[in-house]
Amino acid sequence: MSPKSSPQREVFVSRGAFIFAAIGSAVGLGNIWRFPYVTYDNGGGAFIIPYLIALLTAGIPLLFFYYAMGHRSRGSAPLAHRMVHKGAEPIGWFATGVAIIIGIYYAAIIGWAGSYMFFSLTEAWGDDSEGFFFGEYLKLGDPGISLEFVPEVLIPVILVWVVVLAILLMGVQNGIANFSKVFIPLLIILFLALVIRSLFLPGAAEGLNALFTPDFKALKDPGVWIAAYGQIFFSLSIAFGIMITYASYLKKKTNLTGSGLVVGFSNSAFEILAGIGIFAALGFMAKAQGVEVADVASSGIGLAFVGFPTLISEMPGGGIFGFVFFACLVFAGLTSLISIIQVPIQALRDKFRVGNKASTAWIVGAMAVVSILLMPTITGLYALDTMDAFANNVGIVGSAILSIVVVGWAMRKLPVFSRHLNAVSSFKLGPIWMTLISITGVVLVYMLITQIITYV
Ligand code: PHE
Repeated sequence: MSPKSSPQREVFVSRGAFIFAAIGSAVGLGNIWRFPYVTYDNGGGAFIIPYLIALLTAGIPLLFFYYAMGHRSRGSAPLAHRMVHKGAEPIGWFATGVAIIIGIYYAAIIGWAGSYMFFSLTEAWGDDSEGFFFGEYLKLGDPGISLEFVPEVLIPVILVWVVVLAILLMGVQNGIANFSKVFIPLLIILFLALVIRSLFLPGAAEGLNALFTPDFKALKDPGVWIAAYGQIFFSLSIAFGIMITYASYLKKKTNLTGSGLVVGFSNSAFEILAGIGIFAALGFMAKAQGVEVADVASSGIGLAFVGFPTLISEMPGGGIFGFVFFACLVFAGLTSLISIIQVPIQALRDKFRVGNKASTAWIVGAMAVVSILLMPTITGLYALDTMDAFANNVGIVGSAILSIVVVGWAMRKLPVFSRHLNAVSSFKLGPIWMTLISITGVVLVYMLITQIITYV
């Protein structure tokens, strides 16, 4: 199918609109709750070294790679791969599949954050935030695995899907870009206020010491490097077809590499800011409880939904702080969620020439049904863990390897892509970029093998 066959193909009206949408996609739950604990678990301040190396040598170069693919073909992930070679189309569908899986569970986390905005105001968790989250809220454990609905989770998850449908039906420019243009600046202002507030809490310095004290021995551990690459990929929304899809909406003459640099550095700046804010707050919590920061810095979902509630209860004015914190999670999450869902929407349009509104309604409807039927049940959290592990360990790495190996190496598209990027961009690429993409391919294969070995 020729890319011109879709007459109502949507566009971003300006480069700014695209940059906001792309930052909206990148800045998400991964920046706020994932980065701080991944950094802490992987050598603290020393982690910044592999993190920056991964950003500069893999994250940003791959961002350019996917921009080139999407912009050149003006197609969704499957179509863009197909235009490189017919046989490569399944790679695009694999990326689309991963996007669908992430979207289904990501919506649930945003729903929880929505509930927690209001729980913060009343400190609904009393003095047992852990028991409240897993027991009273998610109703885990009792009666074990079951498909019974948990109404407290069901309602927010339905709301998330309604909001997402409304935004996506408005289209790429009026919906995605305009929503991001309003909510990303709002998110930055609110989040800055939270970070500044945290820095003035007693114990903040200890928290920052815990986060940033470098453990250089960690650099010898390959697991730390894998964590850095994983964080960069997740955080930049790379390898799920999002960047291909968004770049396909750009006008012919657009400074692609310049935009990539803005997006990449803004995302990391936000992420590091989040790390500072969260660890300052954890430092306060540790001091209030008379324990070490290590004792309160829990990993994963626990940090946002168990650690933070305890903190909110302990700090003066905690209710408002909590409300704003969870509102930030909701805003950051929504702008990422809409980007993930646009991937299958555009794939459907390109493949079956379904109209814009119809394809949006079908995809959002289908994903919402699965998400609403599965996530708010007692089995939801188990499903979420499995889907998250698959998406992160196999999905990201696998999809990026396939694109680099097939498109970059086998089809030798790197010179074509760099010419394409250079023709429209201010920041020119050359052999260094191509080498970096190839090295990233090797690193990713190594990562995948290591993952497989740990799982078997
Ligand atoms: N980049 C987003 C974040 O940091 C998450 C995301 C992952 C979005 C994958 C889309 C795809 O949370």
